[in-house]
Amino acid sequence: MKEINWSDLSFGYMKTDYNVRCYYRNGQWTDPEISDSEYISIHIAATCLHYGQEAFEGLKAFKGKDGKIRIFRMRENALRLQSSCRGIMMQELPTALFEQAVVEAIKRNRSYIPPYESGASLYIRPLLLGTSAQVGVKQADEYMFLVFVTPVGPYFKEGFKTTPVVIFRQFDRAAPLGTGTYKIGGNYAASLVAGDKAHAMGYSSVLYLDAKEKKYIDECGPANFFGIKNNTYITPESTSILPSITNKSLMQLAEAMGMKVERRRVPLEELATFEEAGMCGTAAVISPIQRIDDVEEDKSYIFSADGKPGAVSVKLYNELRAIQYGEKEDLYGWTTIVDF
Ligand code: PLP
Ligand code: COI
Repeated sequence: MKEINWSDLSFGYMKTDYNVRCYYRNGQWTDPEISDSEYISIHIAATCLHYGQEAFEGLKAFKGKDGKIRIFRMRENALRLQSSCRGIMMQELPTALFEQAVVEAIKRNRSYIPPYESGASLYIRPLLLGTSAQVGVKQADEYMFLVFVTPVGPYFKEGFKTTPVVIFRQFDRAAPLGTGTYKIGGNYAASLVAGDKAHAMGYSSVLYLDAKEKKYIDECGPANFFGIKNNTYITPESTSILPSITNKSLMQLAEAMGMKVERRRVPLEELATFEEAGMCGTAAVISPIQRIDDVEEDKSYIFSADGKPGAVSVKLYNELRAIQYGEKEDLYGWTTIVDF
């Protein structure tokens, strides 16, 4: 294993030693197998290649000050993967098998878990694919589930710093009654052109509006959106956004901090009233937003004049990280300690 500069990690792929795989064949899932290959071999007519039968998850494990490894809300990811499977007619993976494969992938790659001091973490990427051949548009009858891990630093290279975000009306990420609530590859393919354009213009992310009326806030490319005002945490309710596990956690933490929490439609104009705004997700953690430019309307909503994250965002971030790294007692049963 080559020397890793832990505190300099970005959010990217690094080869680790092993991944874990199970297969659905003849009406049942096989036990997890360990592989040291970074490659898979699949049929040229596999449904994942032609008809997008592919879903993934993203979760993290953290090494604490006490040396223990904690996985954050793994069960929630297992349940969301099952929801994605129902959404695109894939075979659902049992929760216990998901958890077993995730734990095994972490254990087999122990030396890749970043040290506590680095502030980095181990990103875990479960992936489920339709693997059997179909030429007509139809679901597969065989599936492959795999889990790989990779050590990561911050998703946005700035880390916990504010960044600018942009609204475009000429792109939608997901249709109102489409697949936006599922974590499937097609949604991310649909976001690539807009994301690339945003990056080229100096923005960290696109903030999507609802596809039907373009009146309400949906979410960011890889993360949910939240706004803060009057001691209230406000986050969009929509039929086209991913139910973020980080967002769900922040809502609970905000409530515990004595804030009001509102999950409802958020009209675009309301941006002007927020004292703070941020993106949240497993990869993004909390990424505070400096300003949102509505380029077509030639309007800017500014949340941080000095570029610093707002006080509530800082408090939520610290609270979440403290639970993830085991610095604070996990009152919610969110973490699973890995037994080596
Ligand atoms: N929204 C989208 C589109 C995402 O890809 C993600 C990342 O998983 C999120 C939101 C955040 O979800 P979570 O907090 O469960 O990682
Ligand atoms: C995550 O936060 O886990 C994500 O999946 C976001 C992005 C990397 C797709």
